[in-house]
Amino acid sequence: MKVLVYQAHPGAPHSEANKAMDVATDAVEGIEFVDLYATYPRFDIDVEVEQARLLRSDAILFQYPLFWYSTPSIIKEWQDLVLEHGFAYGSGGDKLTGKIWSMGITCGAPEEAYGAEGYNGFALRTLLTPMEQTARLCHMTFLPPYVLYGALAKREAHGLSPHAEGWRRWLIALRDDQVDLTKAGACDVIQAEDLNEVIR
Ligand SMILES: Cc1cc2nc3c(=O)[nH]c(=O)nc-3n(C[C@H](O)[C@H](O)[C@H](O)COP(=O)(O)O)c2cc1C
Repeated sequence: MKVLVYQAHPGAPHSEANKAMDVATDAVEGIEFVDLYATYPRFDIDVEVEQARLLRSDAILFQYPLFWYSTPSIIKEWQDLVLEHGFAYGSGGDKLTGKIWSMGITCGAPEEAYGAEGYNGFALRTLLTPMEQTARLCHMTFLPPYVLYGALAKREAHGLSPHAEGWRRWLIALRDDQVDLTKAGACDVIQAEDLNEVIR
């Protein structure tokens, strides 16, 4: 599969977790990588260029730190502009049919913070339903996100390597069609320790 990674981090110089993922991405041949904030510092997203990227890709991954239970704002801007009627949805809007939509998300809060009993009140997958439904409206296959919980504590403990190494494995497996899409699709989220279960 041709894999496209849209990375979005508005505070790139302060990033550690996403930076480690970027280094991992760089080590995988054949991935198209777009740093959205670096490419469009004034948010002047080139719709034609981005739609062309989508057309030549089979799996589209958004990689970002969770910000206020959502994406950094440039990803929302990208969605608003690029996923046009007649291209992504609506009459004649079938250009993304069958492509994979997924994410690589780092969360500052620990896993136990997510869920009805946790201080964030909702499961991460519940918070991601707008992304999931957007993929569905665009006739795409939503694959659960590859997630790092507790990113801030892991930064302090210099414990980011397993996540970054897992991201490298995940990209290679997607590229080489080695992901068991049925098993992966049945997960809520995929963490580094789950990869052996979902990669053939
Ligand atoms: C404006 C802002 C909002 C944030 N919102 C959340 C959030 O809703 N949930 C969460 O778990 N972490 C949240 N965080 C923490 C980031 O997700 C965390 O710092 C990031 O994933 C670490 O990755 P990095 O090292 O690449 O920056 C937020 C951080 C900032 C600056």
